[in-house]
Amino acid sequence: MPTPPSDALRCPPPVLSVVVPTFNEVDNVAELVARVAGALAGTDWELIFVDDDSPDGTADRARAIAATDRRVRVLQRIGRRGLSSACIEGMLASSAAYLAVMDGDLQHDAALLPQMLAALAEDDLDIVVGSRYVADGGLGDWAARRRSMSRLAGGLGRRLIKADLQDPMSGFFILRAEAFRTRVRRLSGVGFKLLLDLFASDGTPLRFREIPYRFGLRQAGASKLDNAVLWEYLLMLLQKLVGPVVPVRFIAFSLIGGLGVGVHLAVLWALFKGLGTSFLVGQAAATLVAMTSNFFLNNLLTYRDMRLRGRALLWGWASFVAACSIGALANVGIATYLFRAESFWLLSAFAGILVGAVWNYAVTAVYTWRRPRAA
Ligand code: GDD
Ligand code: MN
Repeated sequence: MPTPPSDALRCPPPVLSVVVPTFNEVDNVAELVARVAGALAGTDWELIFVDDDSPDGTADRARAIAATDRRVRVLQRIGRRGLSSACIEGMLASSAAYLAVMDGDLQHDAALLPQMLAALAEDDLDIVVGSRYVADGGLGDWAARRRSMSRLAGGLGRRLIKADLQDPMSGFFILRAEAFRTRVRRLSGVGFKLLLDLFASDGTPLRFREIPYRFGLRQAGASKLDNAVLWEYLLMLLQKLVGPVVPVRFIAFSLIGGLGVGVHLAVLWALFKGLGTSFLVGQAAATLVAMTSNFFLNNLLTYRDMRLRGRALLWGWASFVAACSIGALANVGIATYLFRAESFWLLSAFAGILVGAVWNYAVTAVYTWRRPRAA
C-alpha cells in the first residue's frame, strides 16, 4: 500500500490559478509568463495555458517553459476549439481558491492581477472584472467598426443579465473557485463570452466589482474574433433566453433547416418552372441541394467547434443525407397519419416537421458530428 506523503513532503496547491486560453500565440507565451511572474511576485500562483492544438506550436513552446518552471502548466485539447470552453476546462483543472482568466496575447494588463486579487479576497466579492468601460478604462486601438460592434453586443448582453455590469464582454476577470464551481454545470460554454455566461446563468447573483484597464495592443499573432464568433455570441444569448432544456445547437439546426426550405423552393422553382424538368426531377434535385447546403451550414455554424474537414467531410455529408432522408420519411409518415386521423392540416404538417427535425438533429448529432475521431 502506498504510504501517504509526510507533512514535510506535502505541497498544497497555489492560491491563484491564472487560466490563459491560447490559439496560435507562440510568440506571446514567454512574455506572458514573464509579465505574470513579475506582477504576482509574492503571491503563490500558477499559470495554466489551455491550447487548442495550435498549428504554430504554442503548446510545445509553453511546455518548454513549464519544463523549467512548475508554476506553468499546459492543457492541450485536441480536435476541439472554443475560447469559453477552453477557459472552463482550465479552471476545472485547478485546485486553487481563486481563478483568473486572461488572454494570451498580452492585451490584458497582468500588472492589475494583484489589485484584482486583493479586492476579491478582502472585500468579500465573488468576481472582479477588468473593465474597459468604467472611468479610466479604454479600448486601445480598436477600429470604429469593432468599437460599435462591441458596444452593441455588450448592450444586448447587459439586457440579459440582471447585474449592472458595464463591460459584460470582458475576457479579463478573477473569481472565487467556489463561485465558478457552483455555476459550471449551467454554463453554455459556447463562443467567446464566458463572463456573460457566468453572470447569465441563474443562481444567487454574483457579488462583483469592475476595475478599469486599457485594452493593450496585440504584439504578435492575430485576433480570432470574426463573424462566426458573433454568431456564437447570438446563440449563447438565445440559449440563455430559452433555458437549458432546448439545446442551443438544436435552435441553430432548426434555423438552418428553415433556411433549407427556402433553398429547396428556389431550386425547385428554377428547375421545374425555369428549365421545364419534370416535377419529380426538380423535387429530388431540390431535396439533395437543400440537404447539402444544410450540411455545410451546420458544419460551419452549428458544429463550428467540431468542424469536419477533408475526408471526414465526405462521410459527414453521406451520413447527414442518410439521416435526413429517414427524417423526411418520418415527417411525411406522421403528418399523413395525423391528417388521416382528421387533424387540422396545418397542425399535422407541423407535427411532422417537428418529429423530422428532432430526428435529424438527434441522429446527426451522434453519427455525423460525434463520431470518434478517425486516425
Ligand atoms: N484555447 C483557445 N481556443 N483559445 C482561443 C481560441 C480557441 O478557440 N480562440 C481565441 N483564443 C485565445 C487567443 O489565443 C487569445 O489568447 C484569447 O483567446 C483572446 O482571443 P483574441 O482573438 O485575441 O480575441 P480579442 O482580442 O479579439 O478579444 C478578447 O478581448 C475582448 C475584450 O476583453 C477576448 O478576450 C474577448 O472575450 C474580450 O471581450
Ligand atoms: Mn486579443
